[in-house]
Amino acid sequence: MASRQHPEIIITADAQALAETAAERMLSRIKQAKGRAAVCLTGGSSPERLYQLLSLEPYRNNLPWDRVHWFIGDDRFVPIDDPLSNMGMARRIFLDRVEAPDGNIHPIATDMDSPDVAARRYEAELKRFYGADWLDPKRPLFNLVLMGLGIDGHTASLFPHVPALDEMERWVVGIEKAGLEPFVPRVTLTFPALASTREMLFLVGGRDKSEILARVLSGEDLPASRARSQGEFVWLVDRAAALKDHHATSPADV
Ligand code: 6PG
Repeated sequence: MASRQHPEIIITADAQALAETAAERMLSRIKQAKGRAAVCLTGGSSPERLYQLLSLEPYRNNLPWDRVHWFIGDDRFVPIDDPLSNMGMARRIFLDRVEAPDGNIHPIATDMDSPDVAARRYEAELKRFYGADWLDPKRPLFNLVLMGLGIDGHTASLFPHVPALDEMERWVVGIEKAGLEPFVPRVTLTFPALASTREMLFLVGGRDKSEILARVLSGEDLPASRARSQGEFVWLVDRAAALKDHHATSPADV
């Protein structure tokens, strides 16, 4: 495993402040992009407040929707209108409510024969968008990658002990069986693809995340501890999740 990358840790007062800080970072990251910007969204409940904010002013008006492309870091292998679909959730909460052109929304196709076929297809789509088959560290794929943290230490759909944790070639893989019950097959970007970004932003909120957050930040070998970013690497954490002493390297209160 490559050496550990120490993140910047930003602690916010509560879930609302966490969402507002994330929205501001997203807006400024997108504005910094000269032409099109690529954002890799995350699923789960943690980003929901952020997504709601994006559908409201001032973000609704200030985001240059026509030049932002929206990808998803992982999804469950279910139809997009299924309540378990991550991209379905993002569409319902904000993408369908704003001026985001349909061609700028890049869901994982879950009507394929298997998660592996869907993964290969999404990888091809990412390569087409990027314009090359190899990730150049000088030219990151994404402007911003959002990430979440599961209570077992997973991030995206990279769960403890799955072979995908060590995948270095593929950009996207299918996950047939892993994770917490009830199990749903999934498709996930791999660590090298997720790392190809100008900024990786973890969103971690709530008391139930405090124990696993402390373990990840102390360097225990858990999936989320393997996340890397070629650009900025930021953990945005609310006070409830940060309750335990978690070895912050450069905490800043927001
Ligand atoms: C998913 C996610 C997953 C998520 C964590 C945290 O498909 O569920 O992408 O990695 O980020 O499980 O989920 P919560 O935000 O719901 O705690």
